[in-house]
Amino acid sequence: MPEGFDFTDPDLLHHRVPLPEFAELRAAEPVRWIPQPANIAGFQDEGYWAVTRHADVRYVSTHPEIFSSTLNTAIIRFNEHMDRDSIDAQRLILLNMDPPEHTRVRQIVQRGFTPRAIRALEERLRDRAQSIVAGARTHSGPFDFVTEVACELPLQAIAELIGIPQDDRVKIFEWSNKMIAYDDPEYAITEQVGAESAAELIAYAMGMAAERKQCPAHDIVSTLVAAEDEGNLNSDEFGFFVLMLSVAGNETTRNAITHGMHAFLTHPEQWELYKRERPSTAAEEIVRWATPVNAFQRTATQDTELGGKHIKKGDRVGIFYASANHDPEVFENPDVFDVMRDPNPHLGFGGGGPHYCLGKSLAVLEIDLIFNAIADAMPNLTLTGDPRRLRSAWINGVKELQVTAG
Ligand code: HEM
Repeated sequence: MPEGFDFTDPDLLHHRVPLPEFAELRAAEPVRWIPQPANIAGFQDEGYWAVTRHADVRYVSTHPEIFSSTLNTAIIRFNEHMDRDSIDAQRLILLNMDPPEHTRVRQIVQRGFTPRAIRALEERLRDRAQSIVAGARTHSGPFDFVTEVACELPLQAIAELIGIPQDDRVKIFEWSNKMIAYDDPEYAITEQVGAESAAELIAYAMGMAAERKQCPAHDIVSTLVAAEDEGNLNSDEFGFFVLMLSVAGNETTRNAITHGMHAFLTHPEQWELYKRERPSTAAEEIVRWATPVNAFQRTATQDTELGGKHIKKGDRVGIFYASANHDPEVFENPDVFDVMRDPNPHLGFGGGGPHYCLGKSLAVLEIDLIFNAIADAMPNLTLTGDPRRLRSAWINGVKELQVTAG
């Protein structure tokens, strides 16, 4: 691998996931110092450790006392358009907290993600998935799978979960989509527009919280904010919680669905198998294969050892889920897409520590529902072009995937 190779270079994921380079590192130097990374969100230009083995990614994720999340996990940029208050407020984002603060907030918000709460959404989301696919089927020629199929269900799922009224959904969806500040110039969305959209979404959510405090209803907002005491969120915290859901649950699931479709169409025997058997293992394999979040970062709180390297207090550590998910120490034939894979201890939803994806069951449900709907109503879908990938160092994204309903 050439000196100076950098996994945070947005041009890398623009074209491909750097699997050969990950494999080389896992074998030769699984914890490696990258001295001059591309200057992108989170991995400022001071260097970072690239952690590429499954076991080490898990170790970092499950030791928050050594590897902190408070010093920016790269979920949202701290930028010059944000005033001091909103920067402080970003610390209210669950992903950027450490225990015991994280434990307190996570215990509260978890109440909105119980198996019962997710099951309660299933019927409505199944209807949504079916109507999305029915809409796409009306195209007689090629259409873009991302905008016509993959985009809507993740946004509807979050809106259903929070109980956002139908009439408000269009503007919520618009803010959510603008907020993800890309490194991709094609989107022409400035960081300022992203920050403004975030502020509008937070203000909207805080308004919802204030309203439910006045008149509680039978919904998750009321459950989370009803009485402002230790066991509930205050309005600021609720605003940032909704913001985080709109970022964490939107693009990730959209990309999982798009990559999943691409994987099926480039592995036709797997698509035939799926249509016949509808294996419940498929959604997890799609997330392993897609790994929509390439990496997160932590910061060392003390001097420590990892993979035979001496990590200094304050060093940044990049944990590469995309690499861990192809680690041959853990996965038999890691480079094979196998919808029957079981067990499948992939790290696409995180390395198993306190920040493990809160929305995992919802994401798995959405993926199941959409592929079942496609298998039922559009079983002969075909690819008509190569995916156009997102230019980003940490989201493994697809902007466009041309298909025909067949
Ligand atoms: C955290 C991936 C869908 C909400 C995370 C993390 C990853 C991830 C990698 C960080 C884990 C860690 O640091 O250990 C994904 C993928 C998804 C997905 C690949 C789709 C395929 C969702 C959905 C929601 C959601 C649908 C909610 C609607 C969250 C939240 C956190 C999180 C709130 C922060 C948890 C915490 O800090 O305690 N997700 N996610 N995610 N995810 Fe997801």
